[in-house]
Amino acid sequence: MAETTRTATLTIDGQSFDLPIHSPSVGPDVIDITKLYGQAGVFTHDPGFTSTSACESSITYIDGIKGELLHRGYPIDQLAEKSHYLEVCYLLLYGELPSAAELEIFESTITRHTMIHEQMHNFFRGFRRDAHPMATMVGVVGAMSAFYHDSTDINDPRQREIASHRLIAKMPTIAAMAYKYSIGQPFVYPRNDLSYAANFLRMCFAVPAEEYVIDPVLERAMDRIFTLHADHEQNASTSTVRLASSSGANPFACIAAGIACLWGPAHGGANQACLEMLKEIGTVDRIPEYIARAKDKEDPFRLMGFGHRVYKNFDPRAKVMKQSADEVLDLLGVEDNPLLQVAKELERIALEDSYFADKKLFPNVDFYSGIILEAMGFPTSMFTPIFAVSRTVGWISQWKEQLADPAMKIGRPRQLYMGETLRDYVEIEDR
Ligand code: SDX
Repeated sequence: MAETTRTATLTIDGQSFDLPIHSPSVGPDVIDITKLYGQAGVFTHDPGFTSTSACESSITYIDGIKGELLHRGYPIDQLAEKSHYLEVCYLLLYGELPSAAELEIFESTITRHTMIHEQMHNFFRGFRRDAHPMATMVGVVGAMSAFYHDSTDINDPRQREIASHRLIAKMPTIAAMAYKYSIGQPFVYPRNDLSYAANFLRMCFAVPAEEYVIDPVLERAMDRIFTLHADHEQNASTSTVRLASSSGANPFACIAAGIACLWGPAHGGANQACLEMLKEIGTVDRIPEYIARAKDKEDPFRLMGFGHRVYKNFDPRAKVMKQSADEVLDLLGVEDNPLLQVAKELERIALEDSYFADKKLFPNVDFYSGIILEAMGFPTSMFTPIFAVSRTVGWISQWKEQLADPAMKIGRPRQLYMGETLRDYVEIEDR
């Protein structure tokens, strides 16, 4: 972080405290409060971290007002159009787009790490068949630290790199195995002659009885979904990975923590919740009833797939996702898919309604991804696992960046304590 001469002055009960202001390469300035408690004996208070910068990062930049998302400076719409997921993985991990030779080596490395230890297959058989695939992924990814001891030493840069490659490579295999186990079909091994996206589709949908024919439109749509979900600044699950890593936990444990956080319906679980909401609405004529519920302060119902902590404009990923949705549904001849009709009408009504316009509630990345995944044949329970597969590169890139940050220390927030003050124990006979 560059030295600064600019300061913000905080005055408390007539006493003033100067706090350094740091300027980013783009975006809001930050007020450095690291020394505030030592100087003024006060904490800042920001539940949900709506106004808090938790770290210095160079990976992803989001402008919520403009609806802009940059990965290492490159806009997401250009990456979605011109790049592909493994190239974006290289960009997030190493900071620059790879040369042709660098990309070939990286893709070959990832491809040859896609199998998991054969003994890990036993883990799946310990779960009920109807276990949510996210539960399986949390368990199996956490258990990777019990199998890959040669890449758990976070102080060894080479082990950090091998762990990064293993996680990116093995997540699709684990997610596909969780799906196959849930439907009682045999596991399908990865193949080294397929792209990352094609391998995942085949591991999910191939059966021993016949070869699975990969449709290039679906392969492209799958790769684009992976690309669009790869990283997103300091979202809840990435912050979870950073906090877990700050204690020195091994990479597999940190990523398992990220998967657990992503599962929530307010975060990565929103794509599943959005599809279930569209199915519950069922027909276009029932949309007004749900719009009214979303506005009702007494009703906890929210329009899943709408709104975002940062974007107060259209989520740039949703725009690209919407284009993919049209392509996939057109290919599958389901452009009159009733769910898509409800989704498109819900989007139209919500965007015209002043409640949503005033609160800047636009469709987010989860609004259309679920429709595409449903059309591709995935059950809603697989939507968040697919998000986790994609986001692993973002989590691991942020994990690597934090470990290399000399300012990194264990994350240990404080609190506004509103409980009882000191009091003596009361014997049970006196209560
Ligand atoms: C992801 O952080 C990331 O970057 C996440 C993510 C990523 O890539 O990692 O982008 C992925 O998680 C996308 C978001 C997916 N979640 C959903 O679609 C679930 C539905 N959305 C909401 O739960 C909500 O919009 C959040 C959680 C996404 C954001 O919540 P905030 O920023 O805490 O906003 P808020 O809850 O304070 O809401 C502000 C106002 C409130 O009304 P008031 O109290 O001001 O009167 O807007 C209302 C809310 O009631 N509101 C909604 C709404 N979202 C917010 N009302 C109806 N429907 C909604 N979806």
